[in-house]
Amino acid sequence: MQIDTLILGAGAAGMMCAAHAGGRVVAIDHAKAPGEKIRISGGGRCNFTNLHCTPEAFLSQNPHFCKSALSRYTQWDFIELVEAHGIAWHEKTLGQLFCDVSAKDIIAMLRGLMQAAGAELWLETSLVEVTRDGDLFRVTLERGGRRNSLVTRNLVLASGGKSIPKMGATGLAYDLARQFGLRVTETSAALVPFTFSDQRFAPLAGVSLPVRARAGSGSFDEAMLFTHRGLSGPAMLQISSYWQEGGDITVDLDPEARLYEALRAKRAEAGRVNLTTELARHLPQRLVDALPEHLGLRLSGNLADQSDAALQALCDALRGWQLRPQGTEGYRTAEVTLGGIDTDDLSSKTMEARPCPGLYAIGEAVDVTGWLGGYNFQWAWSSAMAAARAI
Ligand code: FDA
Repeated sequence: MQIDTLILGAGAAGMMCAAHAGGRVVAIDHAKAPGEKIRISGGGRCNFTNLHCTPEAFLSQNPHFCKSALSRYTQWDFIELVEAHGIAWHEKTLGQLFCDVSAKDIIAMLRGLMQAAGAELWLETSLVEVTRDGDLFRVTLERGGRRNSLVTRNLVLASGGKSIPKMGATGLAYDLARQFGLRVTETSAALVPFTFSDQRFAPLAGVSLPVRARAGSGSFDEAMLFTHRGLSGPAMLQISSYWQEGGDITVDLDPEARLYEALRAKRAEAGRVNLTTELARHLPQRLVDALPEHLGLRLSGNLADQSDAALQALCDALRGWQLRPQGTEGYRTAEVTLGGIDTDDLSSKTMEARPCPGLYAIGEAVDVTGWLGGYNFQWAWSSAMAAARAI
């Protein structure tokens, strides 16, 4: 059997590409259903894009690489597509767009588009082997215990990254990229909670508060959540993409820098109020109780007992809490994989491999990783469209 395009992986990028590539297209996936990560994303409502999607929200060895695809298929294009299919959506926070009803609506839309385009979807199908034969690829697949061969002009690597192996993530795209002469940058788990060796935050598990979190060049004002294993919440997931193993993270517990003036004002008005009582009006009580242990602070006396210098020192400590995580929860819970197929070996306009014409790489398999908040799906849609238009 000869086809025009074989797409390996029927996730977000693979389905989007299959729906728009034209010609005879087959998308295969070893899973029982397509788009499983779409289904579970955004708490079942899929944070499918972000209103503020710009190249600055993406990490890559080449930060310019994502610009072309993102500008030629934008968040507005995907919103138009979603609306044309009658999928109602809402903005939750920070430009993050979610389905009103279910992430399954996005999967149904993509399946419908594939069907309308005549693209085939072969589930529970795995790749046995692929070889190059002139301008073509010869592929052996295993489907329902049977092997079949096909020949294709274009081969699209859309099998994602390594995050959540339980959901079927494999290193297939990286292996094939290497087989055809492309480089793969170092990969690591990203958008992932931090762990601490001594479970020191277990007594605070469940406490959440807005912070400014920093690691490397990343700085995010979002919520932080204490867990039994360490630190999570959007602020921590975001900076995990910027954190280097063995390095520190910095947490600012007073991101709006209001505490010092607030404590001084309260001291002037009611100096007999206990310092910890007043702090608990600004920070969660359980955290205030744990501050002496974690930040080495002595929180005794009334507000009237505190000099300006003492209040300033307290606020400085709260604003610059340095922590050294033991590690992260790894690929087991990571939302994405940082790194991947080296963008130097791909055309930013078409996603075609320079060393191997006819080979394309899209989505998370490529060394382009977005922030939390719908950016990774937008990269899947945009990179898929770049390849589909070129095919
Ligand atoms: P994706 O992983 O979607 O698809 C790859 C496909 O290839 C899968 O169907 C897999 O089964 C298949 N495959 C893998 N290996 C194979 C093999 N050897 N043989 C055959 N098939 C194979 N992003 C976002 O923007 N907003 C959000 O709300 C969320 N939420 C979220 C929640 C959770 C829990 C996770 C884990 C991730 C997110 N993400 C997210 C990230 C987002 O899911 C991710 O960036 C995209 O799904 C990437 O799309 P791809 O198509 O590249 O890979």
